[in-house]
Amino acid sequence: MGKVATPLILVNFKAYKEACGERAVALAKVCEKVTEDFGVEIAVAPQFFDLVKVREAVSIPVFSQHIDPVPKAGAFTGHVVAENLSELGIDGTVLNHSERKLSEEGVKKCIGIANSCGLVTVACADTPEEAERIAKFSPDFVAIEPPELIGTGVSVSRAKPEVVTRAVEKVKSVNESVRVLCGAGISSGEDVEKALELGAEGVLVASAVVKAEEPQKVLEEFAASAKKLRG
Ligand code: G3P
Repeated sequence: MGKVATPLILVNFKAYKEACGERAVALAKVCEKVTEDFGVEIAVAPQFFDLVKVREAVSIPVFSQHIDPVPKAGAFTGHVVAENLSELGIDGTVLNHSERKLSEEGVKKCIGIANSCGLVTVACADTPEEAERIAKFSPDFVAIEPPELIGTGVSVSRAKPEVVTRAVEKVKSVNESVRVLCGAGISSGEDVEKALELGAEGVLVASAVVKAEEPQKVLEEFAASAKKLRG
C-alpha cells in the first residue's frame, strides 16, 4: 500500500466479463509482467469481489473502483469502506467515475476518508471546471474523462486536447501537487504520448486493454510510449 509512480497507467476493469474472476487475476498478471519488462507503473482497478484475489496474486498497485463516504468500518450494509480496503492491502481508489458519480460533497468526504486510511485517490472529473473544483479537496490525482468519449476508441488526447490542457492548468492553479491523468478512448501508444505531452502524468484506460484480443501487446505499446516520454 502507498504512493504510486508516474507516469501511471491505471487499467479500470469496470464490470467487463473479460476481467471477472480468474480472468481478472490473469489480466492483472499481464499488467504486472509489462510493468516488470518496461519499468513503467501500471496499476489495476478490478471489480470489488475480485480485489482480494488480485491483491494476493500481484505486487503492482491495486485500486478499488469506488468507496462510499462512510468514515469507519461498521454497520454499513452494502457499502465499500476505505478502512477495510486499507486493511486488506488495497493501495488506492478511483472516485466519482462518470459511471459511478458522487455528489461533490461526497467526493470531498471520500478523499478525506481515503487520505486518512493511506489510500491513493484518483478522483474523476467530466470537465476541466469540475476538475478544478475537485482539486480543492486535495486528491492525489484528478482524472479528466469526457464521458462522451469513453469506450469510443477516440482518445481525449487526440480529439479534445484542449480539454486536457485546460484541466491541467486549472488543477495546477489550485494545487500544484495534484497530478492529472486523462482517460476516455485511449487506444494507442500515440494517445499515451499525446496525453503526456499535454501535461497529464498518466492515463486511465479500460476497453482498449480489457477487451483486447492481446492485452499484453496493447499494454506494451502504452508502456513503451510512457517510458519514451519519461526519458
Ligand atoms: O476509467 C477509464 C474509462 O472510463 C475509460 O474507458 O474504455 O474509453 O478506455 P475507455
